Formats: sequence, structure tokens, C-alpha cells
Amino acid sequence: MNKIMLVFGTRPEAIKMCPLALELKSRLELETVVCVTAQHREMLDSVLGDFGVRADYDLDIMRERQSLFDVTSGVLDGVRSVIEAENPSLVLVHGDTTTAFSAALACFYLRVPVAHVEAGLRTHDVLSPYPEEFNRRAIGSVAKLHFAPTETAKDNLIREGVDESRIFVTGNTVIDALRRTVTDDFSHPLLDWAADSRLVVITSHRRESVGDTMKTMLEAVRRVIEAHPDVKAICPVHPSPDVSECVASTLGGCNRIALTSPLPVTDFHNLLARSYVVLTDSGGVQEEASELGKPTVVMRDVTERTEGVFAGNLLVSGTDHEKIARELSELLDSPEKYARSTAKSDVFGDGNASRKIADIIEKMM
Ligand code: UD1
Ligand code: UDP
Repeated sequence: MNKIMLVFGTRPEAIKMCPLALELKSRLELETVVCVTAQHREMLDSVLGDFGVRADYDLDIMRERQSLFDVTSGVLDGVRSVIEAENPSLVLVHGDTTTAFSAALACFYLRVPVAHVEAGLRTHDVLSPYPEEFNRRAIGSVAKLHFAPTETAKDNLIREGVDESRIFVTGNTVIDALRRTVTDDFSHPLLDWAADSRLVVITSHRRESVGDTMKTMLEAVRRVIEAHPDVKAICPVHPSPDVSECVASTLGGCNRIALTSPLPVTDFHNLLARSYVVLTDSGGVQEEASELGKPTVVMRDVTERTEGVFAGNLLVSGTDHEKIARELSELLDSPEKYARSTAKSDVFGDGNASRKIADIIEKMM
């Protein structure tokens, strides 16, 4: 029987790989092995718990304030032993994290075929996002199969010389995840707290923004929220110490901004579905917000999710604090501008990406 191994380690990879792991495990012709690196610990475990996915291998590499060197070498060594023990026919990695890059590199060294899920996203600026744009390009150069979420991603790969026969446009598995998590009967204390207000959801964690950029970005957000008494905001804080210290010092102490620990994905998705406006530098949140039809200020200089920009949901403000403040104020003050950004769009998938990927793998094995 063909053995398929999934390797992932961070929250966003887990959210997007769990639906696929469950789909592959339902295929009786395939043996599915899940190896988590635990580049993230609590945030990974929370997602595995929500989706009911059990890891067969757990490399447990996360360290406080880990560097890119720590993650790269920890994953490379750990994944090597697992691949040597299991000898899979195909290894699936996801997206652009250092877990994905290092696992793909281990496969390349061991000459084990790699399939890249969420292949072909590009900003065309290797420093933004950092180091993710490098990671995904590097994975793309060794992958045998490329599961591109959109036609744009496919085009990017073709322009880089990838053989079209190895690219499959499947949609993004994040939409599969949303279809499982968002329900009509959701309730949560934060929803009760915000019931009398317009709810803004804020997330920020990008490595290239940490420091002064993130500080001025979030100060601008706070100023706008303080100027709008009918707005309340929820900001689940990423546990990276550099991020959490910055968020606490900029958004803390305002009684209309709730700073929380990272939320379980089911809670986060349902709160996002009930939000008025989203502010984020996340990749996955951009896709989710487009699917849910939420006007979203993307606090990054450049996005690889251009489909959501064309659909009208994603407004790329850049990281400049004045531009962020202007975009947010306009969304809150101008019903016309707001209405232009609320169309629900299926540009990132139809909720069947996992099934399509599993079908292709089954056929090729
Ligand atoms: C990583 C990914 C990034 C992705 C992000 C999603 C890389 C280089 N970066 O960045 O692409 O967008 O995850 O969130 O792969 N921590 C905890 N508990 C956790 C998770 C993290 O305490 O459950 C803390 C640890 O101190 C850790 C730090 O956060 O050292 C940073 O984690 P790391 O994975 O290195 O970087 P992220 O910024 O999370
Ligand atoms: N998310 C979550 N709980 C939170 C905040 C975000 O489950 O408190 C989810 C969100 O729905 C999205 C993913 O985390 O699917 C995005 O992760 P992150 O922003 O950390 O990484 P990125 O997508 O930028 O790589």
C-alpha cells in the first residue's frame, strides 16, 4: 500500500492540512502518516484538538524565541529520522513556513518525492513576507506535484518553468476548514461583550513588521478605535514574545479592545464570520475574510492573495500608520466604501480542495 506522509508544524499549516489529513485517512487504498514538527506548540495542539487529528510523530522542536536556524536544523534532523523509518511514497508539505521548507529539503536530500500544498503563491519580493517568500520558492523548485489554490498561483509556477502537467488547481484547503468550523448556533463571551458594537478583529505577527513598524501600525489602529465609540475590537495575541510585548504596549489598557490568548480555530472562525471589519497581516486570515465577505485592511506592503484584492475585500494599506488609519476610518465612516468590500467571494476555493487533492494522489499512486 502506498504511504503518504504529511509534515506540518505551525497553526496555519495545521488548519489547512487537517482537513486533508482526515480526507486521506478516509481513503482505504492509502496509508496516511502524520508527522508534526511542533514548530508551534500550544497553537498546533489546539488545532489538532479541534479537528480531532492525532499525530503519529511529534518532533516537539519549539523553543522560546527560536531563531530561523533553530527551526531549520531541528526540522531537518527530525524529519530525516522519520522519513528514514517510514520510507513514504510521497511527502506533503504546506505553504511557506520553515517547517515546510526544511521538510522539503530533507526529502530532496533523501530523494523522496514532495507534493506542495498551497503552491505557487508569490509576492515577487523575496524579503516580503520574510522568510516565507524564499521558503515557498525553494519548495516549488524541488516539488514533484504542485497543488495550486488558484489559477494565479498556477500561472506563477508556469512562469518559473514548472511543467504544467505537474500543477493542479484545487482551491485552498482553508475553505474546507471554514466549512467545518463556522456554524449558525455559535455563542461566545466575546460575542456577548461586543453585542452592542461593530466588531473589529485584529491579528498581527509578521516577522518583518516586528519592532517599530508593528508599534506604529497598532498605535494607529488604537487611535481610530478610540475615536469610534460604537466599535469594539478583539485581538488574539500571537505568543511570540516580540509580538506579545508590542501588542500589550500598544493596544493594552483600552476597555474597548479585548486582548486574548490565541483563540481555538473554531472560535476564531466564528468570530471572524460575525465581525464588521478585519485588520490583519496574516496570510490565512486574508483568505478566510474574502470567503466570508469581510472588508479587510491588509497591514502589509504587498500581498500574494491578489485574488481577494480584485474581489474587493482586501484593501492593502501597507505598513504605514497613516495609510492604515485612513483605510480603517474610511471603512468605519463611509457606508459606500464599506458596501464595496463586502461581497462574499469564492476566489480561494469551493470547500472541496482536500477531496480533489486526495483524488489526484490516489490516481497517481
Ligand atoms: C511562523 C511562520 C510564519 C507563519 C506563522 C504563523 C516561519 C519562519 N514562520 O512564524 O510563516 O505565518 O508561524 O503563526 O516558519 N510560540 C509559542 N507557542 C506557540 C507558537 C509560538 O510560545 O504555540 C512562540 C515561541 O516563543 C516561538 C515564537 O512564538 O519561539 C515564534 O514562533 P515561530 O514559529 O518561530 O515564528 P512565527 O512568528 O510564529
Ligand atoms: N487563527 C486562529 N486563532 C486565532 C487567530 C488566528 O485559529 O486566535 C487562525 C486563522 O483563522 C487562520 C490562521 O490562524 O486560519 C492564520 O494563522 P497566522 O495568522 O498565525 O499565520 P499565516 O496565515 O499568516 O501564516
